[in-house]
Amino acid sequence: MCGIVGVLGDHEAAPILVEALKRLEYRGYDSAGIATVNHGKLDRRRAVGKLVNLGDLLVHDPLPGKAGIGHTRWATHGEPSVSNAHPHQAGPVAVVHNGIIENFRDLRAELAEHGILPQTETDTETVALLTQHYLDQGASPVDAAFQALDRLEGAFALAFLFDGEEDLIVAARKGSPLAIGHGEGEMYVGSDAIALGPLTDRITYLEEGDRAVLTRTSLEIRDAQGELANREIRTVQIQSTQIDKAGHKHFMAKEIAEQPLVIGDALGHYLPAGQDTVQLPGKGIDFTKIERVTMVACGTAYYACLTAKYWFEQLARIPVEVDIASEFRYREPPVSPGTLAVFVSQSGETADTLAALRYCEGKADKIVSVVNVPESSIARESDLALPIHAGVEVGVASTKAFTCQLVVLVLLALKAAADKGQIDQETLADHISAVRGLPSLLNAALDQNEAIRQAAIKLSEARDVLFLGRGPMYPMALEGALKLKEISYIHAEGYASGELKHGPIALIDKNMPVIVMAPRDAVFDKTVSNMQEVMARKGQVLLISDDDGLAEAQDGVWSTIRMPHVHPTLAPILYAIPAQLLAYHTAVAKGTDVDQPRNLAKSVTVE
Ligand code: G6P
Repeated sequence: MCGIVGVLGDHEAAPILVEALKRLEYRGYDSAGIATVNHGKLDRRRAVGKLVNLGDLLVHDPLPGKAGIGHTRWATHGEPSVSNAHPHQAGPVAVVHNGIIENFRDLRAELAEHGILPQTETDTETVALLTQHYLDQGASPVDAAFQALDRLEGAFALAFLFDGEEDLIVAARKGSPLAIGHGEGEMYVGSDAIALGPLTDRITYLEEGDRAVLTRTSLEIRDAQGELANREIRTVQIQSTQIDKAGHKHFMAKEIAEQPLVIGDALGHYLPAGQDTVQLPGKGIDFTKIERVTMVACGTAYYACLTAKYWFEQLARIPVEVDIASEFRYREPPVSPGTLAVFVSQSGETADTLAALRYCEGKADKIVSVVNVPESSIARESDLALPIHAGVEVGVASTKAFTCQLVVLVLLALKAAADKGQIDQETLADHISAVRGLPSLLNAALDQNEAIRQAAIKLSEARDVLFLGRGPMYPMALEGALKLKEISYIHAEGYASGELKHGPIALIDKNMPVIVMAPRDAVFDKTVSNMQEVMARKGQVLLISDDDGLAEAQDGVWSTIRMPHVHPTLAPILYAIPAQLLAYHTAVAKGTDVDQPRNLAKSVTVE
């Protein structure tokens, strides 16, 4: 899942490409590279590692030219190396690619028969070699690119740049998103509109199978059937100031801290002032016709869905199935009428989630997405997109997007409960009033930062960590473990407290920190029993609870984190804060790369 950009401009392309790539670095940071055409000559620069390395290289070895393409890589085929870095060049053509060319081995074998051999381990190079092959046979640059595209299987967003062509980029999309930006006598390509934010707010999104021929003054798009296509130019809202740590050491710290603010903003979009109702955008959802809900997502968004299952089932009495997108799409589950299919994705571009959404098209009654990027593919392909209003999230480990997803999902569950007559107006008003109080409770939870930091110092010495929770705290235990794994590289697992005896208790010894997330709720006593079982085996317990819970159960624990009292339904949203801060401070104590952890990428646009 890489990021690609292209520019046909009036100014030097290299700084523009590097700036745009900075905005795409969330997609991968194994290597970066750019290619330009200058006085007719195609040339490129590439560097392993983060974009900053490419920036350094360009200082010593600049790349002039006003037409160019660029790439930031998350390695799929071939290790991160200069040779495997994009752009891939074959003679007079250079190519940048996001996706996977699934038939590249067959194509390689075919090219080998013509004596054309690969120089890299990548699938992408095959596209460049194929295009060169068609150019050698006399095809024009556009025709050569189109003929190569005809041969490709898999998923791709591609941009081609040609030697001798200073006013031409060919771009294509199948499976991976691609946006075209319109400037004044300039034209741009980017994996998303955010990449093009400082350049233009006038965007054309390519549709599935589209191919585009760009010059500085023209854009010609052909659809999957080869017909000329008229695609809308949209004006998108992108703040150019969004890449800013606002005085924090890391984006993750900033994004954790701004949760009260962004959640307050999200609430304003769903809760009309002075009314105890939930208002959805557009035509909304009529839950009276909905018999079941299927929720699909990946990573942290999946844990938001697991939490929402408790809400939909308990509040609205609607059965919910939750699936990991990569499993859902290949299991071919039956989706019967009366199903509401809900897809949750921060980026709105996760390949497996998008594929799962497409699987449900024509089967589910309604397809709803819960997304942070309203212009994303998942948002555009759903019947109703519910924005979470978290603002741009840069840290690879999701934090504010997670809690905003939870907020939108709890409001959706409340709307379902009200539509279905499962809760009376008084109970609904009670819940909505509690939801409105979330920002101030989140602030109180953030005030525990120092206590959490102290606990994290000890956690940073651990080899393994266990998170336990019961009921809606179980998904939070899973999320706490995921956060810790992602950014501190400490092995962590989340378990349902009641499941502890069925295996993981064998791991407990004096070296094993066990984090118990347990507000004083209806299942508290049961969780405390499980906690005692851990302590009886010398496990080191960190208890996260409220005043009542700590008063009852803190004897013998290694440490505590004191949380404010919260409406039981909303506890998972609040307890996300200590989970995030524990991971953050542990990673800082270990000195790992908090915002860009190794091997990860924020948006996973390959299977
Ligand atoms: C990646 C990110 C996670 C994220 C997951 C799903 O793995 O590192 O933080 O939760 O993708 O992404 P999405 O954009 O669909 O929410």
